[in-house]
Amino acid sequence: WSKRKNVVAVIMEQLPREIVQTLKDFGKLAKDLGMKAYAVGGFVRDLLLRRSNLDIDIVVEGDGIEFARTYAREHGIRCRFHKKFNTAVLIFPDDRRVDVASARFEYYQYPAALPIVEFSSLKMDLYRRDFTINTLALALNPGEFGQLIDFFGGQRDLKDKTIRVLHNLSLVEDPTRILRAIRFEQRFGFRIGKQTVALIRNAVRMGLLQKLGGRRLLHEIQLIMVEDDPLPPLRRMNEFAVWPVLSANILFDQKLEDLFVRLREVVSWHRLSFLDEPLERWWVYMLGLFSGLAAADVEDACGRLQFTAGQRERIAWAYRTVSGLLWGFFPAAEHKPSAIFRALQPFKPEELVFMMAKAQDETPRRAVSHYFHRYRHVSTELKGRDLKEMGVPPGPIYRVILDELLDARLNGEVKDRQEELAYLRERHAELFGGEGEVPDPAS
Ligand code: CTP
Repeated sequence: WSKRKNVVAVIMEQLPREIVQTLKDFGKLAKDLGMKAYAVGGFVRDLLLRRSNLDIDIVVEGDGIEFARTYAREHGIRCRFHKKFNTAVLIFPDDRRVDVASARFEYYQYPAALPIVEFSSLKMDLYRRDFTINTLALALNPGEFGQLIDFFGGQRDLKDKTIRVLHNLSLVEDPTRILRAIRFEQRFGFRIGKQTVALIRNAVRMGLLQKLGGRRLLHEIQLIMVEDDPLPPLRRMNEFAVWPVLSANILFDQKLEDLFVRLREVVSWHRLSFLDEPLERWWVYMLGLFSGLAAADVEDACGRLQFTAGQRERIAWAYRTVSGLLWGFFPAAEHKPSAIFRALQPFKPEELVFMMAKAQDETPRRAVSHYFHRYRHVSTELKGRDLKEMGVPPGPIYRVILDELLDARLNGEVKDRQEELAYLRERHAELFGGEGEVPDPAS
C-alpha cells in the first residue's frame, strides 16, 4: 500500500475486457485533447476492495464537456451535458452510463502573492468528497495508465477498514454524509473512525439532519434499505440517535429487529421464487419501520419524508387492511382459495411480503405463498367475448359471471373450458334461453 503505485494488474484481473478498453480509450482521447483523465470515487475504491462495480466516474483536468462530446462522436454513442456544472454523461448502447466531471484549475485560483503549492485541480476535486476511501483516483492517460493517486490516505483507510471524513466541516457541508458513513461502514464491514464518530454525534446533536430536505433524507434512507442486509445500518442509525429525525416514537427494540430479520427472509424468498419480478425492497422495510407507530406518528414521519398524498394514503390503508386480515379474517375460519384470492388481490407484492413477515402463524403465510405461486396466475378460459358470442346481452352481468367462473376455477370446481361451460349451463341456464345446451362459441 505504498503512496503511489500502479494497479494495472488489479484492473486486468477485476474488470471485463471491454471496460478496460473503454478506460484506455478515455486515456488516449484525453491525451489527444491535451487533457488528463482519471477514474475516481467508488469505482476505484471497489476495484481495490475487489468488489464488482462498473459505475465509472471520470474526472478530466480540462473541459469535461468537450471530452465527452468528442468521445461520443468518435464512438457513435449518446452524450448529455450540463453546461452549468461542466459535467456530462456518456450513455453506452447497453445503457451503461459514465459520468464525466471537469476539474479546472482556473476555478481555484489563488492570489498570486501566495507561494505556489502543489495543488492540482484533481486534488481540489477530490478534496470536496465525503470520505478518504472515496478520494482515490486512477490515472488513465497512456504512459501512466493504472497509476493510483492517493492524496488523502485513502489506501491506508481501506487497509485499516476505516471510514474517515477529510475535514471537520465535511458533515456540516453535507449532512447526508452521516447516513453515507453508516451505509459504507456496514456494507464493507469497516468502522467509522474515532474523530468521525465524534463529528457525527455532534452533527446529530446540532440537528443537522433536521435541516435536510425530505427528499434527500428519504433518498439516503432508501439507499440504506436496499443494501443487502439493511438491519445493521438501521441499527447503527439508532445508536447514533438518528431516528428521532423521523419520529420521536420509533422504538428500535428487539421486536423491531426481529421483524427486520423476518422481512429480509421473506424478501429473499420472494427474490428466489420470482427471479425477474421487481420488488421495491425499501418500501417493504419502510412498512416495517413504521409498523409499530400510531397512525398520527406515521403521518408525521411520512410528512417529514415528503411522501406524496397517494403514498401516505396507501401506507395507512396497508396497515389497516393487513391488520384486519391477520387478526380478523385469517383466524376466523378456514377460507377457500377464492376467498383468499379476493382478500389478497388489492395488495401490492411489497405489502404482501410485509404481511407474511408480520404473520404470527403458518396459515396466513401459507395463504400468501399460495397466492403468489398459484392463485394470482389463475384465469378463466371463457372471456367476455365468448359470452357475447353465446348471446348473453352485454352488461354488468358479465363481471358477475366471469368472477363466479374464476372463483370456481380457483376452488378447483372447474378445470377446463368444457367444465366452465357446464358450470354456466347449470348456474345460468336462464341467460341462454332456458333449459338445454349452452353452445360453445368455439365449436
Ligand atoms: N460524494 C460525496 N458526498 C456525497 C455524495 C457523493 O462526496 N454526499 C462523492 C463520493 O466521493 C462518491 C462520489 O461522489 O464516491 C459518487 O457518489 P455515489 O455514486 O453516491 O457514491 P459511490 O461511492 O459510488 O457509492 P455507491 O457504491 O453506493 O454507488
